[in-house]
Amino acid sequence: MSYTEGMLKEGALKGKNILVTGGGTGLGKSMGLYFLKLGANLVITSRKLEVLQETAQEMEKETGGKVLALACDVREIDQVEKMWKDAVDHFGQIHAVLNNAAGNFISPTERLSTNAFNTVLDIVLKGTSQVTLTAGKHWIKEKQKGTFLNIVTTYAWTGSGYVVPSAAAKAGVLAMTRSLAVEWAKYNIRSNAIAPGPFPTEGAWSRLLPGDLVKKFDPAKKVPVGRVGEHQELANLAAYLMSDFSAYVNGEVITIDGGEWLQGAGEFNNLDQIPQELWDMMEASRGKKG
Ligand code: COA
Repeated sequence: MSYTEGMLKEGALKGKNILVTGGGTGLGKSMGLYFLKLGANLVITSRKLEVLQETAQEMEKETGGKVLALACDVREIDQVEKMWKDAVDHFGQIHAVLNNAAGNFISPTERLSTNAFNTVLDIVLKGTSQVTLTAGKHWIKEKQKGTFLNIVTTYAWTGSGYVVPSAAAKAGVLAMTRSLAVEWAKYNIRSNAIAPGPFPTEGAWSRLLPGDLVKKFDPAKKVPVGRVGEHQELANLAAYLMSDFSAYVNGEVITIDGGEWLQGAGEFNNLDQIPQELWDMMEASRGKKG
């Protein structure tokens, strides 16, 4: 068995209709594909209908499942409400929402225009809250149970330079996840989050670290387990949190980053760089070396 394999048993998501925002490419596509393999039907949304339709076709061919592609900019409430209505009209009921759509600019904060800063806040925080409120109000009104899974990041709680609007917005999404986990549990609505570390995707990585930068700042070097994540590892965790196997998990954020953020947090972790010979010398100087 390997971490590149699917983890849940066949049919683990059978009968579930799952909405994935930002589901046409990257991590959203990988998680959605695994949901389909486990028997779910899928609604995928993003701004680019053509990309979505291509992905939907590809996914249906690979799995035999049903995928509905709906264009929706999560920043626009009219589009969100229309998308939700179309999704419900098509499948009858949506059981779970994966809030995965995001945007990010890596930049010194003082170089960001007001519009650039607001663009990231709008996609990540406003977009997630608009999708969440639209789905949640519907579930409450119809007395249907529901599951939210929100993709955040490990710097949602530490903050991070050079991605400040993203850090601020993801911190908001995390607070919303935990708040609604309590407030809406009485309606049978669960909310959880995943904080992924580096998982390579063509789109985000080439945009965020263009050209040789990705070699210079090789993210694998910052991860204690010595590698970046495999999409299937993230998909396994997401599928578990979407499934009824996790019915008692509510308000949790699960980090999946090979220990990356703790590596940066532990005060003495950079002592990794001290060679064994130096440790030997220090031990000898304490007079303990036999
Ligand atoms: N760094 C800094 N500012 C940037 C930028 C960058 N790389 N790219 C765009 N901006 C600025 C623009 O100049 C504009 O500000 P201005 O009006 O003051 O000039 C503002 O940000 C909005 O840019 P615009 O291109 O009009 O935004 P958009 O709404 O069309 O698209 C995104 C914004 C984020 C949706 C788009 O860049 C995108 O699709 N990104 C891919 C998704 C992504 O980032 N994924 C990573 C997930 S972690």
